[in-house]
Amino acid sequence: DSVVGSVVGINGTKTDHWELKPDRLEIYRDEKLGTGANGDVYKGTILGMAPIANFSKGSYVRRRFVDCTVAVKILPAYADATRRANFLEEINVMKSIEYHPNVANLLACVTLGSTICLVMEYAAFGDLARLLRDKYNVQTLPPPDQVDRSKGEICLKDLLSFSWQISEGMTYLSTKKFVHRDLAARNILIDRSLNALIADFGLCLRPDRLKSGGDPKKDRLPIKWMALESLKKFEFSSKTDVWSFGVLMYEIFSLGGIPYEGIPLTEMVKHLAGGQRLSRPKFASSDIYDIMTSCWRESPEERPTFESLRERLAEILEHET
Ligand code: ADE
Repeated sequence: DSVVGSVVGINGTKTDHWELKPDRLEIYRDEKLGTGANGDVYKGTILGMAPIANFSKGSYVRRRFVDCTVAVKILPAYADATRRANFLEEINVMKSIEYHPNVANLLACVTLGSTICLVMEYAAFGDLARLLRDKYNVQTLPPPDQVDRSKGEICLKDLLSFSWQISEGMTYLSTKKFVHRDLAARNILIDRSLNALIADFGLCLRPDRLKSGGDPKKDRLPIKWMALESLKKFEFSSKTDVWSFGVLMYEIFSLGGIPYEGIPLTEMVKHLAGGQRLSRPKFASSDIYDIMTSCWRESPEERPTFESLRERLAEILEHET
């Protein structure tokens, strides 16, 4: 079985039902899927039967997978103690998030030895930023009934659906008082059924760590996705996640456009404090652009909540044929 007794590893972590024996995990080093804040991600397989505890549709299920394809984030061997601690914290954050269909859920981990692995759901279409950028030069989107999925085509309804699904996942995380802090298209994964999954909890703050604001790794912060108060005062909240969500919607409706292109990072505070915002992207209707700009209101209290974003996006999606 994958579950060992109560062993304490060299990292001081205890085993639990998430812990996988390293020989049960096959990692394909030539199939790199991406790079996260805390390490590179590779394709892999959990060998044999993997009993995976999940919450699905409100109830506890224990699904069993055989040789299940997974994504494995590995801490590089040269990582120092700080990065090691950050990575273990990322794993702990994911352990404390219960199953949600719009989160790239943790499936298992390997933490007892010198190599640390985070094993998560595999998303066949990879990250949303890359998926969108492949379509960047598309001038018109096909109507929903004429989308050729075999050619990887997407339509406006898909863009709305991604936005709505991410707002669903963020509603869940924000009600649990998690602050993601790195919400961006590069951290959204798209699976085979075009489900959007929120990933990369490397900068995520747990409810009990909110006050301390974590340890500011200023060099790793996503400046162009950050709210004005985060840039000025290093404050983070669900309302700063809402700001980032607006920038993420800009990426979606521009098909992978680069936010504030040409504006140096050092100019961003001045730019935003002067009231300037991103302009309406190519595929955003005025309704959609209104949602984005509401996310970028200077006063956090005036920005919508993820609940209201979810409701508004569901409404627009329902009217889109
Ligand atoms: N890139 C980063 N994480 C991934 C995942 N879980 N599935 C597919 N590609 C990824």
